[in-house]
Amino acid sequence: MNWEYLQPVTIQFGNGIRKELKAAAESLGCKDGLLVADPFFAASGLAEQLVSESGGILTGIYSEVSPNPDVTEVDACAKLLRENKHGFVVALGGGSALDCAKAAASICLTNDSIRKYHGTGEAMPLAHLPLIAVPTTAGTGSEVTCVSVLTDHANGKKSPIVSNGFYPSIALIDPELTYSMPPKVTASTGIDVLCHALEGFWSKGHQPVCDALAQHACKLVFTYLKRAYVDGSDREAREKMAEASVIAGLAFTLPKTTASHACSFPLTNLYHIPHGEACGLTLDYFARINASAEGGRLETFAKEIGFAGVEEMAERIHALKEELGLLTDLKHLNLTDAQIDELVRISRHPNLYNNPVEITDEMLSGMYESFR
Ligand SMILES: NC(=O)c1ccc[n+]([C@@H]2O[C@H](COP(=O)([O-])OP(=O)(O)OC[C@H]3O[C@@H](n4cnc5c(N)ncnc54)[C@H](O)[C@@H]3O)[C@@H](O)[C@H]2O)c1
Ligand SMILES: [Zn+2]
Repeated sequence: MNWEYLQPVTIQFGNGIRKELKAAAESLGCKDGLLVADPFFAASGLAEQLVSESGGILTGIYSEVSPNPDVTEVDACAKLLRENKHGFVVALGGGSALDCAKAAASICLTNDSIRKYHGTGEAMPLAHLPLIAVPTTAGTGSEVTCVSVLTDHANGKKSPIVSNGFYPSIALIDPELTYSMPPKVTASTGIDVLCHALEGFWSKGHQPVCDALAQHACKLVFTYLKRAYVDGSDREAREKMAEASVIAGLAFTLPKTTASHACSFPLTNLYHIPHGEACGLTLDYFARINASAEGGRLETFAKEIGFAGVEEMAERIHALKEELGLLTDLKHLNLTDAQIDELVRISRHPNLYNNPVEITDEMLSGMYESFR
């Protein structure tokens, strides 16, 4: 088997590591930075505090970022970067703020709208402003990935853009920043970590380095997610989930995600189910489907992380979702036949083709039927 591993992001991890932001920017020779901050941290005062503690290195804040960031928010952020001639970008927030900042840091060096590259197959230009990513969820792993997931709400489209220009220069991962996540956000973003690790592992693009990372991240999620959900001030659980998040990000960014992420896009777009919860909904279903793929390598993986096999792991995923108050079906939506057909059609997203077992429309409609 031939494979290649690339990971260009400098990762600094630890409680309080956010205080190294100024030093990190200086190490890159950066000045006149724009802080792209999740609105929660604009309201909490942390964004202002980071700017005032930056010794003049950060000179502005942009915080018009919604969950599942819209292409128009990227364009607005890029406009600000251009107009104020900012020299670099710091992204503070969950995947939404990070993805908005990543795309804006590239598109600002062109006169294009990000729409030109969103779901069109047009390759993103590689040039970009340096970016320091400071994640506050655990989470998407966006701080180490070459992916920016954007939504064009006006055109009903959610899709990732992949570009080697999207890798941040530095990721500062401070578990303390995740303490303020409410239980529902902890649950949803935490199950996303499990999806990244498992999908990275079973993806057609799997490779040994990412496999090892996936195994480590899965073990951490199965051990610590419930604890972080039950007690958000559990320092060890928060730290281990932050570790799982970045490691799972490393596990999927090269192999890419698969069927659960493909199905999440219409679930989020049409029914506003948060990203992680939408991915997690189908995870145990696809674990069972993928159990025997490629000589049963998922069966071996499940055993290596302490389960009797894939069936027991799938049952645990289902039980975990119940314990975390996450959706295990779509009964509340009273889906019509036409809505199921629409879900099947929009689930046919490129990520579906990374799945090791070919997913037919019949399988998708059978799955969505079982949820109603
Ligand atoms: N780029 C990637 O590699 C990648 C991977 C997976 C998912 N994504 C995308 O990332 C987005 C989801 O990101 P997310 O799951 O991190 O959630 P998010 O960034 O959308 O945040 C969810 C909610 O939690 C709030 N929040 C964030 N951190 C908080 C904190 N510490 N305390 C209190 N509230 C906080 C936000 O204000 C928001 O309301 C989706 O668009 C998804 O498709 C990107
Ligand atoms: Zn995800």
